[in-house]
Amino acid sequence: MIELKNINYSAVDKNDIIKDLSIVFPEKKITVITGANGSGKSTLVKIIMGILKPSSGEVWMNGKDITNFSITDRARNGLTMAFQQPVSFKGITVKKLIEIANGKSLSVGQVCEYLSKVGLCAKDYVNRELSNKLSGGEMKRIELAVSLAKGGSVYLFDEPEAGIDLWSFDGLVGIFESLKDKTIIIVSHQQKILDIADNILLLGANGKYTFGTRDEIMSSIHRPRVCRALEDTHE
Ligand SMILES: Nc1ncnc2c1ncn2[C@@H]1O[C@H](COP(=O)(O)OP(=O)(O)O)[C@@H](O)[C@H]1O
Ligand SMILES: [Mg+2]
Repeated sequence: MIELKNINYSAVDKNDIIKDLSIVFPEKKITVITGANGSGKSTLVKIIMGILKPSSGEVWMNGKDITNFSITDRARNGLTMAFQQPVSFKGITVKKLIEIANGKSLSVGQVCEYLSKVGLCAKDYVNRELSNKLSGGEMKRIELAVSLAKGGSVYLFDEPEAGIDLWSFDGLVGIFESLKDKTIIIVSHQQKILDIADNILLLGANGKYTFGTRDEIMSSIHRPRVCRALEDTHE
């Protein structure tokens, strides 16, 4: 369970990106964070992961105050993040990358399992090196496979659908559904991902936010003002 207590975040030239935000991301549930471009979604997941420090407020995980924990300490405590833009380590093989994430040597079969989960034909990729020759979509899927290999109890995904439009959404949704015993936080605008949310956090302009069950938030999205906020998100 992740709890945010009175989180504020202002950048040097932009105030109130996040304003007095207090919510609980319930354990073993899927919470989708959505809202217009620039509403603070990536900022919020970076605060949870420890990449950014809030201007004030606290981040708690499973009853522990982790506000001052480093990214590494958070990862050790079971927090795993897949980035909006995949991290690239050129020259390393896909198998090695997945082994590093998993913390031990793996058989080809074990690596293949992770790759198959993200819709990659495993035998074509196990010994591939990370390089510019991989497409954005392939990199993104490898990033997802790496997150799965890392394990953990709380997963953060920032726009996991970006760049994988050719891959059936059902595959992506299937991954989240296979993580049912984990606490999942997904930044997304996609209807199919909103459909599997237990709860939705809708971020608005100037730090305004609404949090509720999927049904509560989806019915409020039909109100014109919120609807416009969501339409703005389509790039
Ligand atoms: N370090 C920073 N300095 C100034 N503005 C920032 C900084 N980081 C984020 N912002 C601004 O804060 C807002 C929220 O950014 P972000 O969290 O990336 O939004 P989202 O992921 O919802 O599109 C944007 O307007 C962005 O330009
Ligand atoms: Mg973002």
